[in-house]
Amino acid sequence: MILAIESSCDETAAAVIDETRILSNVVSSQYFHRKFGGVVPELASRAHLQYISEVTSKALEEAGLTIQNMSAIAVTAAPGLIGSLIVGTNFAKGLSLRYGLPIIPVDHIEGHIYSSFIQDTGLEFPIISLVVSGGHTAIFHVKSYEEYDLLGTTVDDAAGEAFDKIASLFGLPYPGGPEVDKLAARGNPKAFNFPRSMITSKDYNFSFSGLKTSVRYYLQNNFQNGIPESIIPDLCASIQAAIVEVLVYKTICAAKAMKVKTVAVSGGVSANSELRFKFAGEAERCNIKFVSSDLSYCTDNAAMIGFIASRKLNSKNAEYFNNLMFIANPSSLKKKMKEKKNN
Ligand code: KG4
Ligand code: ZN
Repeated sequence: MILAIESSCDETAAAVIDETRILSNVVSSQYFHRKFGGVVPELASRAHLQYISEVTSKALEEAGLTIQNMSAIAVTAAPGLIGSLIVGTNFAKGLSLRYGLPIIPVDHIEGHIYSSFIQDTGLEFPIISLVVSGGHTAIFHVKSYEEYDLLGTTVDDAAGEAFDKIASLFGLPYPGGPEVDKLAARGNPKAFNFPRSMITSKDYNFSFSGLKTSVRYYLQNNFQNGIPESIIPDLCASIQAAIVEVLVYKTICAAKAMKVKTVAVSGGVSANSELRFKFAGEAERCNIKFVSSDLSYCTDNAAMIGFIASRKLNSKNAEYFNNLMFIANPSSLKKKMKEKKNN
């Protein structure tokens, strides 16, 4: 039985996991960042401090258990906002020390990668996993619970960041991704022809900052006196199509090249309706299984942290996780990604 804690960005989350069964999954989202147009790191850590205890108690209560029933604590240790990570890791260390429980530090991205297995524990390795959120866009070749290779990543903005930054160019509130998704439903994706950056590159990397620049110049050059409301749905549908097409194309290419029969997508952007629709269609056409988890496991949550921690605990002795000396790291995986970019 594992109590998992996640606080890497702007969600304070806790969950209780029994082997692979999620007994509770509580998430408190910091919506107040909206008025600033993005996450303010210092305010995020203060809000984590304010809510972490309450969120953890709620997770235990919803599972019908107490901390005495737990056999380990799992916590996100990297990557993320350093102040936010420090709150979660120190809270977890406190519980570990007080109740004599082993502590399992977890990489947030690993949480996302394996989140597809929460609902479908029968899913077989290998899989190609696309992690696509506000902070990350990366394709992994996942061979087991211990082994995965990074195939490619964004060389500039993450896809969610692109949705958010582009949406702000025409006045949509933060986060722009869900707003674009909604408006795009009544727009024409072919109305504007925006670039599909790096779609023909022979690697699995992405680039989204060129799309942002292209939309900015298009708007500046054509609508000096303001953008007419009437074009917003077409604009959203065309921008969404440009982002989705590259994500789907490169992920399916990776699956074909690696001869992998399952692709999974996770992270906040995987909530996008067009992305799910296009992935499902393209995967079916290529005879590949497509897995998109329930949204509660796609966006930031502690269930995914507890889930991969339970796999780690199964493969090693609990004593292995008695070290409280680990430190929160804002960029452990990014470092790996940079190495990949430079290769
Ligand atoms: O995984 P997440 O909740 O947090 C991290 O960034 O780790 O992802 C948030 C991102 C934001 O950029 C948001 O705009 C995007 O996911 N997003 C979407 C949709 N829902 C959330 N992007 C496109 N379409 C959506 N429906
Ligand atoms: Zn995340």
